[in-house]
Amino acid sequence: MSVYLVVGGAGFIGSNLVEALLERGHTVRVIDNFATGRRENLEPFRAQVELFERDITQARGLEEAFRGVDYVLLQAALPSVPRSIEDPVGTFRTNVEGTLNVLEAARAAGVRKLVFASSSSIYGSNPELPKRETMLPAPMSPYAAGKLAAETYCRVYHRVYGLPTTCLRYFNVFGPRQNPASQYAAVIPLFITAGLHDREVTVYGDGEQSRDFTYVSNVVQANLLAAENPAGAGGAFNAACGDRITLNGMLAMLEQILGRDIRRKYVAPRPGDVPHSQADITLLQETFSYKPQISFHSGLQRTFDYFKDLMQRDNRDHSVR
Ligand SMILES: NC(=O)c1ccc[n+]([C@@H]2O[C@H](COP(=O)([O-])OP(=O)(O)OC[C@H]3O[C@@H](n4cnc5c(N)ncnc54)[C@H](O)[C@@H]3O)[C@@H](O)[C@H]2O)c1
Repeated sequence: MSVYLVVGGAGFIGSNLVEALLERGHTVRVIDNFATGRRENLEPFRAQVELFERDITQARGLEEAFRGVDYVLLQAALPSVPRSIEDPVGTFRTNVEGTLNVLEAARAAGVRKLVFASSSSIYGSNPELPKRETMLPAPMSPYAAGKLAAETYCRVYHRVYGLPTTCLRYFNVFGPRQNPASQYAAVIPLFITAGLHDREVTVYGDGEQSRDFTYVSNVVQANLLAAENPAGAGGAFNAACGDRITLNGMLAMLEQILGRDIRRKYVAPRPGDVPHSQADITLLQETFSYKPQISFHSGLQRTFDYFKDLMQRDNRDHSVR
């Protein structure tokens, strides 16, 4: 069994990684400053995890968490395109400078591999579909520019210092523990909770924009395969399902699961949003034998069940008080 450090482990994807690693019997450490992550995400396995409350923008104080670590899964970031447009400097500090600090700490500790959470947003305005890793990136937001810069540092740390790094370009990940309450919430938790509470949803654009929505367990699988396999060092790989679902199509599926219509309002598209996104996942499949296990529809049902259960528990708690 190995020692894993999940940087950003109190977040949505990070906490799903922590859970999967513990299930496999690994020793798990977490670094997080709870900027966007939540303590309740770690609650179910808090006793089994060694938590280091650290801010990755502060290089000093990171080394302790890295001592004796085999693998680093770097998830920590301010993960929002609109937020990066409002605060490009703050996003840079966490997503680029923070990544550099983590790379330095990983190099000093001599870890076996670091897997970095990159993003499909780096393909940006390049209209070609599906997105392949050989395409020229064309970021449309400070967030995407930062992810591309961070990827470049990961590659350079492999080339210059021999630190094995692999970047995974996630495509619209969704699932349990994704925060629907954040000002910058992702669309699926937002639409599910709006549907459950019979609130109107806002659709930016005509709803025909499409995404390669990826259920979180598929991304967890990609991380674990990429970490423990020395292949793919210095490389970047799409991590997705290889499908394309429109927002209107997703809403229709959700209405079917919910059993009633979801009220919606269509408004102007948001700056920085790309119209369509779909991954070619051949490289990840061929390099790491990755195979997405959970389809979009089944992931949507599981995520819906999770939020419905949360809502029912909340209602019970309120009626007891
Ligand atoms: N969710 C997606 O669809 C998606 C898509 C592409 C890429 N990503 C990337 O995946 C990673 C995880 O995303 P997520 O959706 O789980 O987001 P999240 O906000 O739930 O998780 C990010 C975690 O990083 C922590 N963090 C932020 N700044 C920090 C700092 N300075 N020091 C220490 N910890 C800090 C947060 O508290 C949080 O726990 C991010 O790097 C994100 O950019 C996510």
